[in-house]
Amino acid sequence: MPEPLIPATVAFRPNGSPYSPLYGDIYHSVVGSVAQAQYVFLQGNGLPERWQRRPDFTVLETGFGMGINFLTTWAAWRADPSRSDRLHFVSVEKHPFCASDLRLTHAATIDDAAVAALSPTLADAWPDLTPGIHTLAFDDTRVTLTLIFGDAVSVLPTLQLRTDAFYLDGFAPARNPELWTPALFESLGRLASEGATFSTYTSAGEVKRALLHAGFEYKKVPGFGWKRAMLIGQYLPQ
Ligand SMILES: C[S@@+](CC[C@H](N)C(=O)[O-])C[C@H]1O[C@@H](n2cnc3c(N)ncnc32)[C@H](O)[C@@H]1O
Repeated sequence: MPEPLIPATVAFRPNGSPYSPLYGDIYHSVVGSVAQAQYVFLQGNGLPERWQRRPDFTVLETGFGMGINFLTTWAAWRADPSRSDRLHFVSVEKHPFCASDLRLTHAATIDDAAVAALSPTLADAWPDLTPGIHTLAFDDTRVTLTLIFGDAVSVLPTLQLRTDAFYLDGFAPARNPELWTPALFESLGRLASEGATFSTYTSAGEVKRALLHAGFEYKKVPGFGWKRAMLIGQYLPQ
C-alpha cells in the first residue's frame, strides 16, 4: 500500500515568493523564476543544444513543485527548430499542489509570456492527487510529462528509464536532507544514460560528497542571482 498523499499547502512570503510551511523554504523567488530555471537547469544541462536533432530526450527531476522547470523546458523545446522529436519529462513529487493552487502560484510568479501561456494547459490536465504514476501528453504526444506522486527515496529505485539530464531541485539540503543523500544519487546513477548530465542550484558540501560517491563528476560554476555557486556535471562512473 502506498503512503497516503499529503498535498502541498500554498503560502507566500511577504515579498510574494511561494513558500512551503512544511519545509520552511521557498519554491522559487518571486522575481526571475523562469530566468532561474533557464540558467540553472537548461543551461546547466547544455540545453537546448543537447536535445537537438535527436529522436528523443529524457529529463528526470527531483521535486516537481510548481512545475516552473517543466514549463520552462517545454517552452524552450517548442521554440527550438532543431528540437528532438520527443521530450520526456519525468518528475517525482511527494507533496503535489492541487490544480487551483498551481494556477495561483503560477499567476504570482511566472514573468515570461511563452511560459505563462503553457500554465493553463498544465493545470487543465493536472491529475487527481492520488499516489503513483500519472502520464500527461501534450503537443500531439510529442511531449510527455510523467508525474510520480510519491517519495523519491522509495520511488526512484523502482523506475526503469534512461535519463539524459537530471534536474536536482529539492528544497535546500539542510531543510530537505532526504533528497540529497548518497543513496538517492546512487538511484539516479542507475537511471543515467551514457553522457547524462545534472545540474542543481546548490553547492553544499554534503551534495558534492554524495555526487562523487555515486559516480557523478561535478564542476562548481557561478550561481543564479545572489547565489555565488551552483553545481553542474556528468555521470562518469569509474
Ligand atoms: C524547490 S521545490 C521544486 C520546485 C520545482 N522544481 C519547480 O520548478 O517549481 C522542491 C520540491 O521537492 C519536493 N520534495 C521534497 N522532498 C521530496 C521527496 N522525498 N520526494 C519527492 N519530492 C520531494 C517538495 O514537495 C517540493 O515541491
